[in-house]
Amino acid sequence: MIAVERTPLAVDDAAHVKASPAVLGLEGQYSGWVEVEFFHPDPSGDDWIGVFSPANFSAAICEPENKRQYPPVLCTAPIKYQFAKFKNDGYSKSGKGYLKLQLINQREDFSFALFSGGLLKPKLIAVSNKVTFVNPKAPVYPRLAQGKSWNEMTVTWTSGYDIKEAVPFVEWGEKGGRRFLSPAGTLTFDRNSMCGAPARTVGWRHPGYIHTSYLKDLWPDSMYTYRLGHRLPNGTRVWSKSYSFKASPYPGQDSLQRVVIFGDMGKAEADGSNEYNNFQPGSLNTTNQIIRDLENIDMVVHIGDICYANGYLSQWDQFTAQIEPIASTVPYMVGSGNHERDWPGTGSFYGNLDSGGECGVPAQTVFYTPAENRAKFWYATDYGMFRFCIAHTEEDWRPGTEQYKFIEHCLSSVDRQKQPWLIFLAHRVLGYSSNSYYGFEGTFEEPMGREALQELWQKYKVDLAFYGHVHNYERTCPVYQSQCVVNASNHYSGPFQATTHVVVGGAGASLSDFITSKIQWSHFRDFDHGFGKLTAFNHSSLLFEYKKSRDGNVYDHFTISRDYRDVLACSVDNCPRTSLAS
Ligand SMILES: [Fe+2]
Repeated sequence: MIAVERTPLAVDDAAHVKASPAVLGLEGQYSGWVEVEFFHPDPSGDDWIGVFSPANFSAAICEPENKRQYPPVLCTAPIKYQFAKFKNDGYSKSGKGYLKLQLINQREDFSFALFSGGLLKPKLIAVSNKVTFVNPKAPVYPRLAQGKSWNEMTVTWTSGYDIKEAVPFVEWGEKGGRRFLSPAGTLTFDRNSMCGAPARTVGWRHPGYIHTSYLKDLWPDSMYTYRLGHRLPNGTRVWSKSYSFKASPYPGQDSLQRVVIFGDMGKAEADGSNEYNNFQPGSLNTTNQIIRDLENIDMVVHIGDICYANGYLSQWDQFTAQIEPIASTVPYMVGSGNHERDWPGTGSFYGNLDSGGECGVPAQTVFYTPAENRAKFWYATDYGMFRFCIAHTEEDWRPGTEQYKFIEHCLSSVDRQKQPWLIFLAHRVLGYSSNSYYGFEGTFEEPMGREALQELWQKYKVDLAFYGHVHNYERTCPVYQSQCVVNASNHYSGPFQATTHVVVGGAGASLSDFITSKIQWSHFRDFDHGFGKLTAFNHSSLLFEYKKSRDGNVYDHFTISRDYRDVLACSVDNCPRTSLAS
């Protein structure tokens, strides 16, 4: 029998909130459902239940400091909240209600509090008993990422164990083979690393300890299993459950290679409750479709606007929990967007408040990227016949900048005979989009985007460029200087002509509309949630598919058939002059 600590508090003696079970994760689970039963003798339609962690919280009102701080305006932001009348039709009269809420392990205990006064003038009525996971510090939410070399996989996870408390490591090895132990490095950050509110104030929550281990000298395409461990000073080892992954192919290797690409997915709550920045309605559908097709996916690239925590730090746990089935199995490569990085006076290219004061710190810590400098967030990664060049639109990319040099080096340093499929990715649309706000601006892109980069894309024969930021799907013809070099098609063959630009920002966040007029280079538009998938069958055959998140079906696709001599062949602005000498 487990002793249950009960600390009910009722400002109104007749009111109560009760949560059960009081202990979760008895079989090692990282999440669990709690039944919350409550009573308010003086109910109102705008009463609500907040989920707090740690269980002790401040119910005082903290007035917003800026427009990124949302109601409920408490000094401790709840993890999430739900209105008392939700699925409780009689609540406004009877004051009796019942909710089923899902919790995830995030290092501290939980409590549920009933408030009156709506979200703007919240008044605490009653607080529940505490609920806790058996081991709140357990290692959770492993996320794989490609390392800096082709035969290295990194695994990053979150725990409640500081390096002084326990030694983090990974036990791993080929399926059925010898086991290895590899050490992990530990990072965290504190409130002083945040640039403003709410991240630095009401939205602050300790991120826990972020561990990364480097699994090296992997055999291409081999299956590995691994589990996360922490060794306590008394010798006891705390283990996660066991996971598996397939090692990445050798650059240039001829084999089936499949990569899913999207932006702006965010997160949402399976129990229907509300969160701060509650605007990613497609997020769970996209996550679920990818999980369903996971055995046909080798890598995922999420190009920015990762979880929309926007300064409410607890949400990074919610996001890593949501994608855990994906990220623990295939490398989950992230880019950075405005909602990770932008903050006034911090060197971001845009001086808006979109990161809610995070100024990039949680993104560059919670996720590993093989970047030279993780704060700058641009990097190259190879997957077999693919080379991916991932830019960072929240920092300047124009000629003369450090990032421009990186982009040119990434595009120019790949041997196209070995790796024919060259892909450029960035969060904001540096190429082409007929989304309404770019259309009204008349730019059809992020200003200074393609003007700065189109000569590089053309010179280095970039097959495809992917973007997020705009929450819809759009595909162009092969386009250069706003002109279709060839007509759009479902099948391209022969020499490279120009880059096809694809917006795949519809993975979760509220949809963006298009301008109504037809634009010559805009071939296919979809106002819906979805994501892209690239399949390289071999060195001369590539398939792109656009799938809707609602059903996982393909709604647009095209193939590229091409031999090496077609890559070398000259088209507009991409071959140096030839000499007359022979
Ligand atoms: Fe964005």
